[in-house]
Amino acid sequence: MKKLPIRIKLTLWYGLLFLILLILFNFFIYITISRTLKQSEENLLKAHMNMVTNTITFEGPYVNLNELYGIMTLGTFITVYNPSGVVISGGESQIEIAKLDLAFSKLRELKLDNSRWIIYDEAIYNNKEIIAWVRGSRDLQSFETALFRLRIILFSVTPIYMIIAVAGGLFLSNRALSPISRITSTAREIGKGDLSRRLKFPVIEDEVGKLAMTFDEMLDMLESSFKREKQFASDVSHELRTPIAVISSQAEDALRGKAGIKKYGSALKNIQQECSKMSNMFSQLLMLSRSESGRYSVNLENLDLKVIIEEVVKNFKKIAEEKGVKMYMDYADDLKIKADQTLITRMFVNLIDNAIKYSKKDGYIKIFSMPEDGDIKIIIEDNGIGIPEEDLPHIFERFYRVDRSRVRDGFGLGLFIVKWIVDIHRGSITAKSETDKGTAFTINLPAKH
Ligand SMILES: Nc1ncnc2c1ncn2[C@@H]1O[C@H](COP(=O)(O)OP(=O)(O)OP(=O)(O)O)[C@@H](O)[C@H]1O
Ligand SMILES: [Mg+2]
Repeated sequence: MKKLPIRIKLTLWYGLLFLILLILFNFFIYITISRTLKQSEENLLKAHMNMVTNTITFEGPYVNLNELYGIMTLGTFITVYNPSGVVISGGESQIEIAKLDLAFSKLRELKLDNSRWIIYDEAIYNNKEIIAWVRGSRDLQSFETALFRLRIILFSVTPIYMIIAVAGGLFLSNRALSPISRITSTAREIGKGDLSRRLKFPVIEDEVGKLAMTFDEMLDMLESSFKREKQFASDVSHELRTPIAVISSQAEDALRGKAGIKKYGSALKNIQQECSKMSNMFSQLLMLSRSESGRYSVNLENLDLKVIIEEVVKNFKKIAEEKGVKMYMDYADDLKIKADQTLITRMFVNLIDNAIKYSKKDGYIKIFSMPEDGDIKIIIEDNGIGIPEEDLPHIFERFYRVDRSRVRDGFGLGLFIVKWIVDIHRGSITAKSETDKGTAFTINLPAKH
């Protein structure tokens, strides 16, 4: 059963249900009709007996049965008994019935060898004295024939109904499920590696239509994330190639041994710079993998935000100066926050790094922080190249980068990690930006947890 296709399973269940309903329906019809027919036979017998008791006349001790001939033609047989139970008229053709003991006003059923009868006895009075008994009997033959025909009809239509129902069920479930077969075969082809294919179903708002739509949306996501992963791998190797090339050429120069101590110093300095770039990159990648595996255990401490900001700004001072970017800070005095120091530091590093990286000539960066409604609000603002409106909703996505031609280096991980850090501290972050005017990030972090 488990291996059967759904449409067959559906049809089988449907067929079974239909069969049960049909059997119940037939049963109900049969019982009702047989009761009604029997009842009408009984009523007829009683009505005939009523007529007999009203019309019967005696000629001496005998009865003139001819008067009752009309009733006999309606299928009711009459036998007349004297008060002591001896047959005085009729009963010739049904000796076995005539022999039966008399029972006053009681409807009885009698089964003979190959026939069934209903019997009803009535007493005839003259001045409150029983002068005779009359027995009416009806053969149930026609009733049984009718029931037999009914049984034949019900039995023969059941398989016809069943065939129609199963064929109809199969047709309907085939029709309803045929889009699923299309989805399956397309999915199979996509599974072979062609991520650009789509189902492109006509927009129908039913279950299958929604499934197809969801499937296409999922493929969009898969394709773009797959492309970005590919891009990422080539970016990583590209980014690593430069520092490694610098390190190896500096080391080679130094090893040639002709250079003076001054040159050794500058070679080592260059090597150190490239190493710190790489280490920054690795820590970013490490954080990415931790954020994705959900393994990072947050170490909440009481921190002074001012100290952290100043430390980060100090580290960026040289790079900012080289790019001619000025940094301003403005914060309330007592900015205590319960947070993970490594993460909060990384958040500022990534945001300030962006602000410098995407700055323009005569650029500035302003960092404000202040308490607000029990939270701490931080604003990092710059007057750099800004972010185009259509990119703004995506900048917190993993590997998302605005037009790579603007600034070559980077993976599109910085803001993704910032967002992760803010989320992990149950805070919120929003970005406002205008191309060529600048960008402002506003962060709210709960001061206590
Ligand atoms: N202050 C900013 N000014 C202008 N554009 C910005 C700013 N901050 C972010 N962006 C844009 O948002 C994109 C995503 O930023 P994000 O920090 O995530 O990646 P990245 O800086 O390109 O790479 P990474 O931070 O991994 O080195 C960037 O490509 C950049 O174009
Ligand atoms: Mg960045």
